[in-house]
Amino acid sequence: MADFKEISADAPAGAKLLNWVDNRFPASKMFKEHLSEYYAPKNLNIWYVFGALSLLVLVIQIVTGIFLTMNYKPDAALAFGSVEYIMRDVSWGWLIRYMHSTGASAFFIVVYLHMFRGLIYGSYRKPRELVWVFGCAIFLTLMAEAFMGYLLPWGQMSYWGAQVIVNLFAAIPFVGPDLALLIRGDYVVGDATLNRFFAFHVIAVPLVLLGLVVAHIIALHEVGSNNPDGVEIKAKRDASGKPLDGIAFHPFYTVHDIFAVSVFLLVFSAVVFFAPEAGGYFLEYNNFIPADPLKTPSHIAPVWYFTPYYSMLRAITTEMMYVLVLCVALAAVLAVTKGGLNSLFKGVVAVGAVLLCLVMLNIDAKFWGVVVMGGAVIILFFLPWLDNSPVKSIRHRPSWNKWLYALFVVNFLVLGYLGIKPPSPINERVSQLGTLFYFGFFLLMPWWSRLGSFKPVPDRVTFTAH
Ligand code: HEM
Repeated sequence: MADFKEISADAPAGAKLLNWVDNRFPASKMFKEHLSEYYAPKNLNIWYVFGALSLLVLVIQIVTGIFLTMNYKPDAALAFGSVEYIMRDVSWGWLIRYMHSTGASAFFIVVYLHMFRGLIYGSYRKPRELVWVFGCAIFLTLMAEAFMGYLLPWGQMSYWGAQVIVNLFAAIPFVGPDLALLIRGDYVVGDATLNRFFAFHVIAVPLVLLGLVVAHIIALHEVGSNNPDGVEIKAKRDASGKPLDGIAFHPFYTVHDIFAVSVFLLVFSAVVFFAPEAGGYFLEYNNFIPADPLKTPSHIAPVWYFTPYYSMLRAITTEMMYVLVLCVALAAVLAVTKGGLNSLFKGVVAVGAVLLCLVMLNIDAKFWGVVVMGGAVIILFFLPWLDNSPVKSIRHRPSWNKWLYALFVVNFLVLGYLGIKPPSPINERVSQLGTLFYFGFFLLMPWWSRLGSFKPVPDRVTFTAH
């Protein structure tokens, strides 16, 4: 009781209530620490709104998801019909459902832009490695969430998409077939699969996602935001300890974020009300046909946000394995001749590379496709340790880096486009080149990120008052 802060008896009722709460729960303290006295760099630009927008979409998905669950039936015989019922008979059901389906795509759009910002400004570098690693875990969790949610309407694409992806696990040597059986709960995707995906989609994965988002923001607030200059604002403080280049997050950035939320909601509403299928990209046409285990659609493609990775999966053919073996051999030769290793390590690298090449050639390419697809996401976790550049932000890197990043984006979009299209010889070749470029970008980063002449990093952030 001794620590209780007293408040004048004449204080307004609101202040009294807040004082009562503050004496029992750190409400004002948290507001100050995370908003009104959280100092963010004053030069943050438009790229910095996508974190707040990701939070908004997360809330939209959770709220609309709760309302969908009230009428959805996780039963293979009833699921498709229950979604039609939501669309036609439940009051505002169509709106809730379209907000949820559009929200899924919107989530990936804002998260991809948010990740790209991190990439160009080096926000993953020391001391923000954990902010990035939590972010990557969020991305992986989000993919699992979207994949399982897509099965629930029990349309043709839901069914066959899940069938294709779960069957990929069966390609894992030794444990694969049993693992696929464990995931499905049956020999084919069926009622048991739908039930467990429902449980994961509505509760297990969202809980993990929420926990990770909290960890992501706690980690960010521990170290503070990076900025487009990549200058650490905490290095220069005034007498009271406030960073000289920092401004209070609230109200100066909350007002920016509110503006961004308004623009986002305008665009989001335009899609929800006028083009919820987005030409078959957000809701695939085949998914308006009930799942039929006896009728395989002629072309099965995942939703657009998975297609870059799907392209990489399809790129790994037996022929491509020879190219990958060549890459491993080349890397081993370089490590042995130029790596400055002692003779013991040279031997280890040489023997390891030979063994790896033998394993690569003796296991089905389909399995390596799965490894490459998974590896394309897992490699992101290692970004903080792959980048050797002496500066963080693209602003101070050699000018050709901009072209390289632009090429990376174009390559990712091309892979995404090819993943939607049916397979063809030319599609296969381009996907293979795209996959090599994607992995080359990351795996060779320790080397190329050191090359060229770097521009001087300013002492303070560059900012012109507006
Ligand atoms: C549900 C998904 C996510 C939410 C709600 C979220 C939320 C946020 C918020 C609110 C911020 C601070 C505002 C800003 O800098 O934009 C932030 C910063 C950051 N996020 Fe995320 N994030 C998500 C996913 C991701 C992912 C997938 C990554 C990367 C793989 C990532 C990496 C980062 C980084 C590196 C920062 C610090 C940026 C800087 O200081 O320059 N986030 N995030």
